[in-house]
Amino acid sequence: MSQIVISGTGLFTPPESISNEELVECFNAWATRYNADHAEDIEAGRLEPKPMSDAEFILKASGIRSRHVLDKHGILDPEIMHPQLPMRGNDEPSQMCEMAIAAATQALEEAGRKPSDVDAVLCAASNMQRSYPAVAVEVQQYLGCNGYAYDMNVACASAAFGIQAGVDALSSGNANCVVMVNPEICSGHLNFRDRDSHFIFGDACTAVVLERAEDASDGGFEVLGTRLKTQFSNNIRNNAGFLNRSETPQRSDDDRLFIQEGRKVFKDVVPMVVTLISEHLADNGLEPSAVRRFWLHQANLNMNQLISKRLLGRDPSEEEAPVVLDEYANTSSAGSVIAFHKHKAGLAAGDVAVLCAFGAGYSAGSVILRQR
Ligand code: COA
Repeated sequence: MSQIVISGTGLFTPPESISNEELVECFNAWATRYNADHAEDIEAGRLEPKPMSDAEFILKASGIRSRHVLDKHGILDPEIMHPQLPMRGNDEPSQMCEMAIAAATQALEEAGRKPSDVDAVLCAASNMQRSYPAVAVEVQQYLGCNGYAYDMNVACASAAFGIQAGVDALSSGNANCVVMVNPEICSGHLNFRDRDSHFIFGDACTAVVLERAEDASDGGFEVLGTRLKTQFSNNIRNNAGFLNRSETPQRSDDDRLFIQEGRKVFKDVVPMVVTLISEHLADNGLEPSAVRRFWLHQANLNMNQLISKRLLGRDPSEEEAPVVLDEYANTSSAGSVIAFHKHKAGLAAGDVAVLCAFGAGYSAGSVILRQR
């Protein structure tokens, strides 16, 4: 069977960024106003007061310092508290398509490929901004690719599932050059009025080019293997969907946004990911100590440090388990690929690394890579 390689990666980072302090200032202004407006009910015990958020807590609990977003102004206006994106006509590229084109163009340049060389486009992300036509088909059209395209959603693990889908398409001969994109507008489904989660997400898009080794130019990474795992859980959930209009009674607005039990997720997902990676490595004849770099999903710094520590039996160095969530926060499916894209230099030919994405579902995917 042909060896499959990742021959290019790309990243689109929105220019606007919000610090923890800016986010907390907005949240606390809104919470203070809410408490004043509902003082009578709060006093009478009919309503709970909104507690204040705290930038120091956010940094300590998550490792996040800031997040890039498509629209800072709307998110930071206590009267609005969500991104405001100008509605685009059907003849204009959608926001997700535009982000994907930027990241894919960069990835194709690195791979030394033209869009017309591509015959499969996969859009793997947590949210699609519409049901159909697939965003991937729109990207295929605007980029000028051939073949076929489709969308897939496996939440934060989408990139690992997308890489496996690309590898399978190349191995079976169903495609010759695959572009997998992860446009994530997480600010669109984040409840900025929920203290427990208002700090969690940011926006970004990543792209990966996959080819058979004999077709690819020098460099890049061989895919030694991929492995996926899912296990149902309601601890991360988003009930937005096409049946919302038909549901009786109607759900609250908050129930159409991201909700999680962060502590339970932490407890469940760490062992799931450690088992997935260690078994995947063992089945490829590798020990965790042979892995030079872990590009992990970027949701929580403490979680990533614990996963690396359990695998290595010691604390990882910054180089071994690179962190991007301090600047980007959780960008869902893009997170592990941002870590890969920004921290893939400095490995020697033959060095082994692991990309691992995990999140809602639960879902997790491990990709073992070797520097060419
Ligand atoms: N500011 C101040 N205090 C806050 C706060 C905020 N923004 N958010 C929560 N708190 C409070 C809580 O109310 C709680 O108070 P209590 O002890 O009086 O009840 C306390 O801080 C601890 O909250 P908790 O939610 O248990 O914190 P945590 O240490 O678990 O950190 C997360 C929260 C979300 C950062 C963490 O659980 C996490 O990242 N989990 C993994 C999530 C994940 O990977 N998700 C994948 C998504 S794709």
